[in-house]
Amino acid sequence: MPHDQEETPYVDAMTAYRRRGYTPFHTPGHKLGRGAPPKLRELVGDECLRVDLAMAGAVEDTRESSGLVHLAEEYAAEAWGAERCHFLVNGSTSGVHALVLTLAGPGETVVVPRNAHKSLLAALIYSGAMPRYLEPEADRGWGIPLNVTPAQVVAALREHPDARAVVVTSPTYNGLAADLPAIGQVVHAAGVPFIVDQAWGPHLRFCPELPVDAMTAGADACVVSTHKLISGLTQSAVLLARGTRLNLARLESMVKMTQSTSPQALMYASIDAARQQMATHGAELWREAIAGAEWAREEIAGIAGLRCLGHEVLEAAGVAEFDPTRLTVSALDLGLSGFELETALRERGVAVEAADPLAIILNVTFGDSMDDLRVLVHALRDIAAHTGGREAGEAAARWLRLRPPAFTRQVVSPREAFFAPSVALPLAECEGRVSAEIVTPYPPGIPVLGPGEEVAVETVAYLQTASAAHLKVHGPEDLSLRTLRVVR
Ligand SMILES: Cc1ncc(COP(=O)(O)O)c(C=O)c1O
Repeated sequence: MPHDQEETPYVDAMTAYRRRGYTPFHTPGHKLGRGAPPKLRELVGDECLRVDLAMAGAVEDTRESSGLVHLAEEYAAEAWGAERCHFLVNGSTSGVHALVLTLAGPGETVVVPRNAHKSLLAALIYSGAMPRYLEPEADRGWGIPLNVTPAQVVAALREHPDARAVVVTSPTYNGLAADLPAIGQVVHAAGVPFIVDQAWGPHLRFCPELPVDAMTAGADACVVSTHKLISGLTQSAVLLARGTRLNLARLESMVKMTQSTSPQALMYASIDAARQQMATHGAELWREAIAGAEWAREEIAGIAGLRCLGHEVLEAAGVAEFDPTRLTVSALDLGLSGFELETALRERGVAVEAADPLAIILNVTFGDSMDDLRVLVHALRDIAAHTGGREAGEAAARWLRLRPPAFTRQVVSPREAFFAPSVALPLAECEGRVSAEIVTPYPPGIPVLGPGEEVAVETVAYLQTASAAHLKVHGPEDLSLRTLRVVR
């Protein structure tokens, strides 16, 4: 018998615990807020501290993920179409770690997208596995990574029929979804587990107007950040899995190995409540959010000097579907970088999800009212009206015209390079050396070097340009890129 998705077993246990009013001889040390410093009480309120627990219910020890947690996870597994669900308190990050540790050991190959989130690279360092990169193209106009194609996956599996897993990131940060059903088919035809990093897709399952979700598309497992676009508290996420292509018992051990032994019960409760909200009202909530986002997209696109990424992106390589609730907005034609646009919005009381030299990203969810969207559009109109006569984003346009260097050669595994003795050399002297670190210029947010890769002359030139343009760079110790750490 399927569970009644209206029920919230974990939330109910915590509510019962709070009502009962125990005298707490357990963690945390503030003892349900009684000993908490006044400033913390003022910030979060006594109610919040009263449910700040690592245990929900006096008899439930969530650390062993048994009983109550297991029950709440069963509800979630059903809602997201999985056989097994694990609640995570360290985001999708820890789910990615657990999955790679389950699937691949030292020297084994994992097919991964080049623009994967850094948690995947960390997972490769932990496990010792070798990456075989799928290289998505970057959009020339927007400077954002597109997505991987089924043909790229076929080629990778032909080269590495022994791959232990294929991982695809979908949707991307900008809402660009790969053709998951087609990719799933080719991966399974090769007998390989198909894993999706669906951190940005906790909502997909619940609304048919959104891109197809990973489990429906046949994935063996995926991670989903419940905190990103639905009502999970920050850091909460779920790992969903099914079938026989991956060992579910080993996965369970790896989840325990990569989680805190004191999971925040509020986070678990928020996953339970978010699941209930989505399973029972997700479709209508997201339909409204989509309508609001599409309204905002049209309004923004109608403001002279502004652009908003839209459905035309479906023409681009590797993009099979688009999540319309993600708004990527550029004011380069007004001469404003994404950072400047972010600042201008902040001055008008609007906070964005992310900014880079080219654009900003805004998340629209069921939590936004039409009034909120009007505030956004009004602020953007005001910015456009008060910005003029500035240089167009020439530097940004020049950067966009540069083609990032292709992947060269994985000389040693990311783990070997990470632990090898290394030295920081001036960038110009790094050609032919093996990188000890990851280097990702934004835009487009696709790494040009990972640990263990040979540094090509083209990469040195590209990074020198990035450095001269003061581009935002993630990964290396020396963010100015004057030096790069290479294997000694
Ligand atoms: C594609 C992708 N995967 C994984 C993560 C990690 O998610 P979390 O922040 O929930 O750990 C992120 C975070 O932004 C992400 O963008």
